[in-house]
Amino acid sequence: MITRRDAFHLGLGTLVGVSVSSSKLLSQIVVQTQDTSLPRTFPAVTNTSLAEKAEAKGLYYGSAVLRHHLISDSHYADHIIQTCKMIVPEWELKWSAGACPLRPTPHTFDFTSADAVALFASNHKLLLRGHTLVWHLSLPNWFSETVNSQNAEAYLNNHIQTVVEHYAGRMHSWDVVNEAIEPQDGLSEGLRKTPWLKFLGADYIKLAFQAAAEADPKALLVYNDYGLEYDTPKHDAKRAAVLKLLERLKTQGVPIHAFGMQSHLDGSETHLNLKKLRQFLADVASLGLKILVTELDVIDKNLSADITVRDHMVAAAYEDYLNVVLDEPAVIAVLTWGLSDRYTWLSEFEPRPDGLPVRPLPLDANLNRKLAWNAMARAFDNAPNRG
Ligand code: XIL
Repeated sequence: MITRRDAFHLGLGTLVGVSVSSSKLLSQIVVQTQDTSLPRTFPAVTNTSLAEKAEAKGLYYGSAVLRHHLISDSHYADHIIQTCKMIVPEWELKWSAGACPLRPTPHTFDFTSADAVALFASNHKLLLRGHTLVWHLSLPNWFSETVNSQNAEAYLNNHIQTVVEHYAGRMHSWDVVNEAIEPQDGLSEGLRKTPWLKFLGADYIKLAFQAAAEADPKALLVYNDYGLEYDTPKHDAKRAAVLKLLERLKTQGVPIHAFGMQSHLDGSETHLNLKKLRQFLADVASLGLKILVTELDVIDKNLSADITVRDHMVAAAYEDYLNVVLDEPAVIAVLTWGLSDRYTWLSEFEPRPDGLPVRPLPLDANLNRKLAWNAMARAFDNAPNRG
């Protein structure tokens, strides 16, 4: 069913107010209208991969991956190899996620899963990102029983030293600290309530970056966060607090090199304020930091069930966002949080109320290119060259 809002987004101005309920009729109308009067279409692009298009502008394109998909689904793995220049393990470098977690016990590390992803990267000449060393989520069960104010610094240092050294020289970049800001928690500086903050105070962030820099002086060290894109009071507050944090870290001489903007976009959100977003990115860049779009995808749970409409709106969200972001010369990479709708965390985390499969990524579940792919390709083509 096409709603008034869908019609508006599709440029179907003349349809608004027309009462039509047959989805067959609607899809005919959409196709006809797309052919003639759409304000924007997303035509198929040449066979050039997204990685090549990005690279032509001095950018990296990449995707999050899971080890078990790379192993069990060779067709999918081929698409990762053809499309990406960079990959990031979605779970394997978190303290505890998946069947074979990195931190099974307080004193042991199991690199089996993460090493498999690292080997895939090196076998296929893909750059590798590390995600993530310090986060309030994906902590193992033993963590709360074991870590306390007395030993937290030792646990933090030991974890970072061991994991970062293990991959030293092989990581393009590390998300050293993830999601440390949450103004809604009501703490000073907008810091999120986390076990690390509780045990170590605000300096846990500095300590983490220092430990990472010592363990791998070559990797780009990144602070990564979400909820920053839109012109809403919540996002305004988060942008301000993140900027303050980055400023503070730079002033303290903390070895931080880049900011990761997760970019889980909402396809139904209309409050994209280009000026505010541009200003935020420029402010981050003015601190001497590079910027990476680290987890791009478009949540479609509030969009029309009609796939034609939905894919168009998802593609528009990709292009509108990337056009602004790629205009900022400090942006060096764009990674989507997955490549195909076949495997996306949003199926579980942001499911559609109508139960239909979600369609947030550049490839559909059959690994075919969607309008979102064309939108990304065009955004890369239109991006200024980093030189
Ligand atoms: C998500 C993964 O995609 C899920 O599979 C996992 O269960 C939970 O974490 N921000 C982040 C990522 O920094 O680590 C999250 O990844 C998505 C939101």
